[in-house]
Amino acid sequence: MLSKYSEVKWESQKLAINYFRVAIILFLANLLFGLLAAIQYLYPNFLFEIIDFSINRTLHINALVVWLLYAMIGAVYWMLPEETGIETVGIGLGKLLFYILTAAIAVVVLVFLLIQVGAGDIKSIWLINEGREYLEAPRWADIGIVVVVLGFLANVFLTAFKGRRTGILTVLMFDLLALAGLYLAGMFFTKNISMDQFWWWWVIHLWVEATWEVYVAAVVGWGLIKTLGANRKIVEMWIWIELAMLFGSGILGLGHHYFWIGTPEYWWEIGALFSALEPVPLIGMFVHVIYDWGKQAGKQHEINNKPAFAWFVVNTFGNFLGAGVWGFMHTLPQINIYTHGTQWTPAHGHLAFYGAYAAILIGMMYIVVQGKYGIRQMRFTAAGKWGISLLTIGLIGMTMALTIAGYQQSMIERAEFGSTWAGYFAAQNSHWMLQAMGWRLAMGVVTMLGFVFLFKDLLTIGPKLKAEEAAGSTANANAPAGAAATA
Ligand code: HEM
Ligand code: HEM
Ligand SMILES: [Fe+2]
Repeated sequence: MLSKYSEVKWESQKLAINYFRVAIILFLANLLFGLLAAIQYLYPNFLFEIIDFSINRTLHINALVVWLLYAMIGAVYWMLPEETGIETVGIGLGKLLFYILTAAIAVVVLVFLLIQVGAGDIKSIWLINEGREYLEAPRWADIGIVVVVLGFLANVFLTAFKGRRTGILTVLMFDLLALAGLYLAGMFFTKNISMDQFWWWWVIHLWVEATWEVYVAAVVGWGLIKTLGANRKIVEMWIWIELAMLFGSGILGLGHHYFWIGTPEYWWEIGALFSALEPVPLIGMFVHVIYDWGKQAGKQHEINNKPAFAWFVVNTFGNFLGAGVWGFMHTLPQINIYTHGTQWTPAHGHLAFYGAYAAILIGMMYIVVQGKYGIRQMRFTAAGKWGISLLTIGLIGMTMALTIAGYQQSMIERAEFGSTWAGYFAAQNSHWMLQAMGWRLAMGVVTMLGFVFLFKDLLTIGPKLKAEEAAGSTANANAPAGAAATA
């Protein structure tokens, strides 16, 4: 697909494109397995013992985490040469690691599909499934991932030290180091389930509510410079503020997962206070985009990549709503005691992951397409508009359905029945629940349709606009010649 049109000069950016290609395929897997799981909610016998709910769910959320990580690594390899002004150091190693990682992931997926049930022991932890939600990959794959990530970090650090080290890059370097280091917290085993959960949350919470958010702040900043020509000094000022606020609230905000897992009660206060502060930096990120846009609009600058910018806007709103508002709704222990582990949780989880991470990385895909084909002005195509609209409507629709389901669970199962077994079944069988699950499935189909348009657009927009621009410039080039001839 690196066709004659390709304008990519840097090897680092070619590698980035490969990372994005795998990311989009895993995004498809993310959606497909989600749809299967959603069907099984309504028809529990669907594919029973062929591909069980537990496996669909595992593949759904692991594909999500892995596609986001692939796109994140891809975005860094894309930005590196532009920021540093030099080719990425150790790019040969980078390419090798890409193939090793991709092969390892393919093996893990196959093992998940082929061995769905069996004993859980030390051997299965090493070879089949580690059993930790979101990080189910077996131990051998964990170690492989650590090696690959160390190689990636080495490339980023060596390149940044050799070339130009900008503020954006400096933030990213520290952030990636923390992000990779945190993975280790999910890799050792303790027999005490409370202790095990204590460490497991370090990966998942400190990723999505601290290190990944800082990553997004840096990438949005970079994206705004690219698409709007925003002032680097202003952008970097914001990134440092967001960095301080995100780490300030996100690290101890971890306490909102320690309410009911057997940790000391002081986590109620710590979790309540710091997690309630977490929406503040998200407002900061919101203001950041709007402010830079406003500053730029004053200068009558054109947005040179409309789809990317539109995805940045979805990211800003989605991050604020999904993580900030939907997170805040259930973050106080007084509320969480009723909502914990109900459909409220995936309502928040879906909108937050989509808004905060999927959206920004899709925006980056459009920047990559623009760079790959050397397009001056990226406009929206019809497919692009359908893609962004249907994906966003689908995700919001699913979130609404799940919120209603969660609300009735909190009311019936928790408040009315006092968290009894009978209460659980009363809530599961309530017509609110069944209707909500129906709507979730319908909105999941809308999401999938949106993906189809997005996929088509990402494959075709580049050659299409490139051809248009080429035709436009020959027309322009002909115009003066023609004018001279008539004169
Ligand atoms: C982009 C950032 C975020 C993402 C991607 C995200 C995602 C998630 C996900 C997937 C879960 C479910 C975890 C599980 O499987 O048990 C979760 C739980 C939770 N999140 Fe977030 N979250 C984000 C930010 C926030 C923020 C800012 C807050 C608070 C203001 C928050 C509050 C919570 C709470 C309280 C829970 C526990 C729910 C329960 O008790 O069942 N989250 N989050
Ligand atoms: C076709 C669209 C989708 C459908 C039908 C769907 C369906 C589902 C289902 C059935 C579950 C299991 C819920 C449970 O265990 O009760 C789930 C979990 C989850 N999905 Fe999706 N999903 C879709 C798209 C997405 C997307 C696009 C994202 C992220 C960007 C996502 C993120 C998640 C997360 C984080 C969880 C775990 C939530 C938790 O444990 O609280 N899903 N999804
Ligand atoms: Fe959290």
